[in-house]
Amino acid sequence: MTYNLLKGKKGIIFGALDNKSIAWKVAEKAHEEGAIFVLTNTPTAMRFGELDELAKKTNSQIVPADATSEKDLDNLIKESMKIFGGKVDFILHSIGMSLNVRKKRVYSDLRYDYFNKTLDISAVSFHKLLQTCFKNDAISEWGSVVALSYIAAQRTLYGYNDMADAKALLESIGRSFGYIYGREKKIRINTISQSPTLTTAGAGVKGMEGLMDFTERMSPLGNADAEECANFTVVLFSDLSRKVTMQNIYHDGGFSSMGMSMRAMRMYERSLDCNDCPDVED
Ligand SMILES: NC(=O)c1ccc[n+]([C@@H]2O[C@H](COP(=O)([O-])OP(=O)(O)OC[C@H]3O[C@@H](n4cnc5c(N)ncnc54)[C@H](O)[C@@H]3O)[C@@H](O)[C@H]2O)c1
Repeated sequence: MTYNLLKGKKGIIFGALDNKSIAWKVAEKAHEEGAIFVLTNTPTAMRFGELDELAKKTNSQIVPADATSEKDLDNLIKESMKIFGGKVDFILHSIGMSLNVRKKRVYSDLRYDYFNKTLDISAVSFHKLLQTCFKNDAISEWGSVVALSYIAAQRTLYGYNDMADAKALLESIGRSFGYIYGREKKIRINTISQSPTLTTAGAGVKGMEGLMDFTERMSPLGNADAEECANFTVVLFSDLSRKVTMQNIYHDGGFSSMGMSMRAMRMYERSLDCNDCPDVED
């Protein structure tokens, strides 16, 4: 069912890699809801990915940008404003990557050059994006910016590694810039803290299958999938959420408010006598 929630709105969507990406689903939903937008990703990701297919399907143009490069971001924003003949109404930051995770370095043995890259790609890029938009006065009044986060920003989850620190920084940037953008330009900045979701980035998380099973059992409504995340993102882009800003909003089926559920307890009791469970490292 569509509601024309984004009729006439213009946006920029970062992070669609393939049809499993949360950003891909957001693009499809935003298109269904009447938006027009620019799609962007790194030149490398575009070689691997299927962004052309999404662009064709949603009548969008692609402007490549590495979100850590101020020059690329400036070009992206200026190009987008040229394409639309004016400002944008919404932006999705759906970007995350850790070389420590990729190279299987544990949290007590990080490489700091990788750690800096994690923070730059997954969090500081959000500041760079917001600052570039601010300087170009690129977002319309009552516009909306959303970045995707994860509960590891608040709670320690086995195996999430340095991405937890990146998400904590990402959410903080959302609040700090949210104040300035709200005060100066009546623009909303929020982060959505999404359930574990099977995507390329998600599959890189250590023990993802077990984690998804655990959160599914713990969440009264079950895990939220990528499509449900896209639906919620579209609401945050729409005029129906005009006074919501500087928030980190859990979109996780209730997981973040749970301590122990009946379904998880049953599972736990079944394995209480596990004598041959393997030891695990941090
Ligand atoms: N999948 C999950 O379980 C989950 C849960 C909560 C939050 N998130 C967050 O959702 C967002 C989207 O991830 P996803 O799960 O859709 O995975 P994904 O792998 O499909 O998307 C990650 C995207 O980041 C892009 N990217 C990496 N480096 C970049 C750079 N330098 N510049 C621009 N783009 C760059 C990649 O090309 C890719 O398109 C991430 O912020 C992720 O942390 C994911």
